[in-house]
Amino acid sequence: MRKQIVAGNWKMNNDLKTSKSLVKKIIKKLKNNSLKNTRVIVAPTFVSLEKVSKKVKKTKVEVAAQNMHQAKSGAFTGEISAEMLESVGVNIVILGHSERREYFCETDAILAQKVDTALKNNMEIIFCFGEILEDRKSENHFNVVESQLKNGLFHLEATAWGNIILAYEPVWAIGTGETASPEQAQEMHAFIRKIISNKYNRDVAENVSILYGGSVKPANAKEIFSKEDVDGGLIGGAALDADNFVALVNSF
Ligand code: PGA
Repeated sequence: MRKQIVAGNWKMNNDLKTSKSLVKKIIKKLKNNSLKNTRVIVAPTFVSLEKVSKKVKKTKVEVAAQNMHQAKSGAFTGEISAEMLESVGVNIVILGHSERREYFCETDAILAQKVDTALKNNMEIIFCFGEILEDRKSENHFNVVESQLKNGLFHLEATAWGNIILAYEPVWAIGTGETASPEQAQEMHAFIRKIISNKYNRDVAENVSILYGGSVKPANAKEIFSKEDVDGGLIGGAALDADNFVALVNSF
């Protein structure tokens, strides 16, 4: 049975002090939650990763990085490698977020390399993709999503999919307050499972967790998460507040 996941992407928010206090509050509020089939992940900025990852040790909360470089090491000023993440206890990484694609020119080809590097280092990947508003308006959204998945992930062997979590994030819904309707999310998630099943097999498609991302908050999470093919959320804004974030975890 695939896992339900709530992952908080803190983006470029929270310094070291606020990161530590936010994760502490989250841990405390989740204390009495058995989290049987639910994983809770937080993704602070690089500077807070080590301390936050220490804080979550022996708790059910996990830590992810928001990005990493595809090379092993070398002259890449300002970048962070998979091994560096590993050295501070981080083995989950978000790749392909639309903000990375848009503002930092991360192409499908670069992302495919990052995916390979992460997997080589036994990391788990939260792979993000999703269409922009024009694609949705021109009804090209299925094609866009299919090509992002094909170019970023379909070179992998079926066995590698055990380390992949998908996050469908329509760009028009990120940070805009506008969410895809639960029906739109379900429709796309079912489509994603279908193309994975066609490329690989039913098992791979059924076992991969597919998160929805884009203005998820406590007020709309229950309905979205209740959809058959939606296995949780990648959360931006609402993940910055412990009460909201924990309310999302409790929305299944
Ligand atoms: P949002 O961000 O929840 O603030 O829309 C989601 C994301 O970017 O992952």
